[in-house]
Amino acid sequence: MSLGLPRGKELDPGFTLPPALPGLRDDLLTNPAASHVDVRGWFDEPDRPFELEIGSGKGTFLIQEAARRPETNFLGIEYALEFYQYAADRIRRAGLRNVRLLGIDASEFVRWRMPSGICDVIHLYFADPWPKTKHHRRRMVQDRFLADCVRVLRQPAEGVPGGELRIVTDHAEYWAWMEQHFARWCGPSHAFDREAFIPVLPEREEDGAAERTPSELVGTNFERKYRQEGRPFYSTTLRLARPKAAFAAG
Ligand SMILES: C[S@@+](CC[C@H](N)C(=O)[O-])C[C@H]1O[C@@H](n2cnc3c(N)ncnc32)[C@H](O)[C@@H]1O
Repeated sequence: MSLGLPRGKELDPGFTLPPALPGLRDDLLTNPAASHVDVRGWFDEPDRPFELEIGSGKGTFLIQEAARRPETNFLGIEYALEFYQYAADRIRRAGLRNVRLLGIDASEFVRWRMPSGICDVIHLYFADPWPKTKHHRRRMVQDRFLADCVRVLRQPAEGVPGGELRIVTDHAEYWAWMEQHFARWCGPSHAFDREAFIPVLPEREEDGAAERTPSELVGTNFERKYRQEGRPFYSTTLRLARPKAAFAAG
């Protein structure tokens, strides 16, 4: 099965693809902000709310959400070339100008390139579970990743809630791993508060903007595939609840 572009067809570089990234600077460790790239500038309306999807796969979630919420900018990151090309072409054909897609390692990008405090929401749906013990270090959910999320999510302020990390998985053992990590990052003296996962659904039936059925959590390809198999799902929302300084001191 090939998911790539049809033979002879090329991606439109001016549409779904962001501009080339400048190189990392030599002072990366002492001055990390100098290597940051303000990805909001890749959109026609840079001041709109900004959401990131990690591991976009075929782009189904991005396309549905971007069409349903045109006032929000979405960046998807997908490092598997075939999926990336397939999703980028779908986004182009859908004519969605509020989506950009990067074919790069998301954890590296978030760590080194993403400016602080710019993400309203980070979506992580059906992340690869890497079930073998020797591969656990490849899992996206790590203490370091959660620390990076704390940095790049919108900080809470008077009357404005902090940004949120939304997670869904079908994998019980990965979920148990995540729960162990969440226990170190959530609670009154920690960065995040845990909240129930609110499914993403069309606001009104008559909108007709989304194909999802009301029972879906997010409507990604993996959710639909696993739902047909009758698998249970595990989900949560981690909301940045305390300014960075508050828990760094404690
Ligand atoms: C199991 S699939 C889920 C795809 C989609 N979220 C869904 O629910 O249908 C996980 C996807 O994340 C991508 N992925 C895994 N690790 C990644 C990373 N570090 N950076 C970017 N993409 C990654 C994989 O290539 C794969 O397409």
